[in-house]
Amino acid sequence: MTVENKVVVVTGASSGIGASTVKLLVKGGAKVVFGARRQEKLEEVASGLDPDQIAFQETDVTDYQQVKSLVQLAVDRFGKVDALFNNAGIMPMAAVSEDNRDEWQQMLNINVMGVLNGISAVLPIMHRQGYGHILATDSLAGYKVYPNLAVYCGTKFAVRAILEGVRQEEIKNKIRTTLIAPGMVETELYKSISDPKTAKNLVDTWHEENHALKAEDIADLVVYAIGLPNYVSINEVKIRPSVEL
Ligand SMILES: NC(=O)c1ccc[n+]([C@@H]2O[C@H](COP(=O)([O-])OP(=O)(O)OC[C@H]3O[C@@H](n4cnc5c(N)ncnc54)[C@H](OP(=O)(O)O)[C@@H]3O)[C@@H](O)[C@H]2O)c1
Repeated sequence: MTVENKVVVVTGASSGIGASTVKLLVKGGAKVVFGARRQEKLEEVASGLDPDQIAFQETDVTDYQQVKSLVQLAVDRFGKVDALFNNAGIMPMAAVSEDNRDEWQQMLNINVMGVLNGISAVLPIMHRQGYGHILATDSLAGYKVYPNLAVYCGTKFAVRAILEGVRQEEIKNKIRTTLIAPGMVETELYKSISDPKTAKNLVDTWHEENHALKAEDIADLVVYAIGLPNYVSINEVKIRPSVEL
């Protein structure tokens, strides 16, 4: 089990799960190409990492050309793409009756189209290579619906369906898929919640003893899945704090 010399592209890498995964992959000897919208946060993630092992660029996953360019950066710099980790996501919380149409659209664009943009950008490269691994950060909200999260849940159900479809279609091309479905993880995700009271409640819950995982807990799992030999495929994992229902 090793990620040494694997080339991995990570989206949503400026904080939380994505940033932790980048660091752990680099520690394991992988070459990592990563992106997100906030350039200054990407630079923070890169500081202290071996520059020979990384490349990064500002990338909005809703823009297909930007995602293609990130994936191409991996090929230009390191010659291949072993794995793509589609991790970017937002989670605004509100009842459907609040009619936050802009937030719905943003969630669909980032959480669903962002993943599809990644898949679309990387598949031709993986087909040419004759191997590849596509991962995505889903959520327990991709299995179960919660109030005030109806649209978010919808996006995460969609990601699960899409990745399972890709798994079935791409078996013949030796492309593996892995869906990681976390419960509560303490990250910056609350910042995408527009209602300050709701955001504070979520953070307070995270801070209850053992109530939230750390981003590193998810990164461990991602690195493990990528490091497995090509004939082994972890397709879906639920990971939650032991105290979470
Ligand atoms: N935290 C949890 O409890 C939890 C539970 C289950 C699933 N998840 C999922 O885990 C994933 C990572 O979230 P996180 O918890 O690590 O939260 P986070 O710290 O807020 O990270 C989200 C990342 O996505 C990036 N992002 C957002 N919109 C983007 C866009 N349009 N283009 C590119 N990057 C974008 C953000 O960077 P920029 O703002 O710089 O673009 C950031 O790097 C998400 O898919 C989330 O749904 C989280």
